[in-house]
Amino acid sequence: MSSPDIKATVRERYGKAASEVVRGAKTSCCGSSCGCGSDDPITSNLYDEAETATLPAEAVLASLGCGNPTALAELHEGEVVLDLGSGGGIDVLLSAKRVGPTGKAYGLDMTDEMLTLARENQRKAGAENVEFLKGEIESIPLPSDSVDVIISNCVINLSADKAQVLREAFRVLKPGGRLAISDVVVRGQVPDEVRRSLELWVGCVAGALSEQEYHQLLWQAGFDHIGLEPTRIYEIEDARAFLESSGLNADTLAREVGGRVMGAFVRARKPTAEELE
Ligand SMILES: C[S@@+](CC[C@H](N)C(=O)[O-])C[C@H]1O[C@@H](n2cnc3c(N)ncnc32)[C@H](O)[C@@H]1O
Repeated sequence: MSSPDIKATVRERYGKAASEVVRGAKTSCCGSSCGCGSDDPITSNLYDEAETATLPAEAVLASLGCGNPTALAELHEGEVVLDLGSGGGIDVLLSAKRVGPTGKAYGLDMTDEMLTLARENQRKAGAENVEFLKGEIESIPLPSDSVDVIISNCVINLSADKAQVLREAFRVLKPGGRLAISDVVVRGQVPDEVRRSLELWVGCVAGALSEQEYHQLLWQAGFDHIGLEPTRIYEIEDARAFLESSGLNADTLAREVGGRVMGAFVRARKPTAEELE
C-alpha cells in the first residue's frame, strides 16, 4: 500500500471506531479480527481501575492502545506533554492530571471523528490544560524545542514513514526531552508471510518495527538513552482463528514464532543543550 492509501485506511478504520464509541456500540478493536472488550488480548486491562475511574466512560471505551505509556513515563508538574495519535484522548487526560494546571497536555490526531470524541471527553472531564490538535504525526504542528515529553500508544506502527515520525518527535522535543512510547514490536527473525499475518491480526496497517529497527531509527533521528522493554507478549493461541483463516498452521507457528510479536515500551531522550553543542 502507498503512504496515502495507508493513511486513508487508518482514517477510515479509526473514524469508524470513534463513531461506534459515540453510538455506544464499540465492536471493532485495534486488530482486524480479534474480539473486543474485556478479553481483547491487545487492548484489554492496560489501565488500573483507579486510574480510569476519574475519566469519562467514552475515553476509556475508546482506548485502542497496546500499553500504558503514562504509567511508565516520568511526568512532572508544569511539563508539556504531546501524545502522538491521541485517539479518544485517554492518555492525554491522564497526562493532564500528572502535569497539573501549570502544565499542558496536547493530543495530535488526523481523524476528525476521533478529535470530536476526544474534545467531548475533555469537556466531560473538565480538563482545561488540554488541547487536541488536528494533524499528522509525520509533520507535527508544533514549534521546535517546545515539548518536554512525547508519549504515544500503538500508533507509530500505523505510519508508513516511521523515520520521519521520529525525526519530527526529536525536532519538537526540548533539549533533554523524553520519548515514552507503547507500540507493537517484532523480536528476532519471523518469516515475512507469518510476520504480515501476525501484524494484520494485531492491527499494524503499515507493519511493526523489529527491536533493532526501532533502536536504529531512534539513533538516526538523534536520540540517546534508548531502551525497549516488552510489556505484553501476544500468544499464537490468541491469533489462532485469524492465522488459520489465512491458511497458516497455528500449531507449527506456535513452535516456530511464538512470543515474537509483543507490546513494548520504548524510551529515549533528546540530548541536552550542552550535549547538542
Ligand atoms: C490504535 S489508535 C490509538 C489511539 C490512542 N493512542 C489510544 O491509546 O487509544 C490509533 C490512532 O492514531 C491515529 N493515527 C494513526 N496514524 C496517524 C498519523 N499518521 N497521524 C496522526 N494520527 C494518526 C488514528 O486516527 C487513531 O486515532
